[in-house]
Amino acid sequence: MRLLALCGSLRAVSSNGSALVAAAQLAPAGVEVVIYPGLGDLPHFNPDLDTEAPPEPVLALRREIGMSDGLILSTPEYAHGLPGALKNGLDWLVSSLEFADTPTILINTSPASVHAPAQLREILTTMSARLVEAAFVTLNLRGRGLDAAGIAADPDLSAALAGGLERLVAAIAAQPRARW
Ligand SMILES: Cc1cc2nc3c(=O)[nH]c(=O)nc-3n(C[C@H](O)[C@H](O)[C@H](O)COP(=O)(O)O)c2cc1C
Repeated sequence: MRLLALCGSLRAVSSNGSALVAAAQLAPAGVEVVIYPGLGDLPHFNPDLDTEAPPEPVLALRREIGMSDGLILSTPEYAHGLPGALKNGLDWLVSSLEFADTPTILINTSPASVHAPAQLREILTTMSARLVEAAFVTLNLRGRGLDAAGIAADPDLSAALAGGLERLVAAIAAQPRARW
């Protein structure tokens, strides 16, 4: 099983990025978590470019989504909203056949950030993602300076991440998505 992970932070050292690397390390046997590296490479979304031959970085993202059984999103909140890079990436997926019905979970690394997760729920529902709410994960990483190894070594954090992954994998196994 292959899970694609999108990080809303473009920072080189990012708590959301670290949570996703830790998730990759904690994934159950037979489950690969692939962290998508190219969110920052996408052009600004422009419907005029969303033709039968969209820009290559867009095709690359859509291919990755199409090859994956599920999606994991972890993002900071900026000014009570989503980071532009993540919203931009999602806008490029609105019209793609590959996205609909993708089993999807959110990892929230800052429980004080309530606006971005609410907006993501609304956007993803509008895009016909299959939100697996029971597998959503909340970790309080704010101000703790933990890297992926530190997260994986923390019993509470690693249990929360591993539990979310297990529930996502079970939901996908019970109802696999259509593959493109
Ligand atoms: C420009 C900017 C705006 C932010 N606005 C908010 C906000 O509205 N609400 C919030 O909870 N955190 C806000 N934050 C804090 C980030 O969400 C927080 O630092 C986050 O953990 C960073 O994630 P990262 O380590 O993955 O980059 C903001 C940070 C920046 C840089």
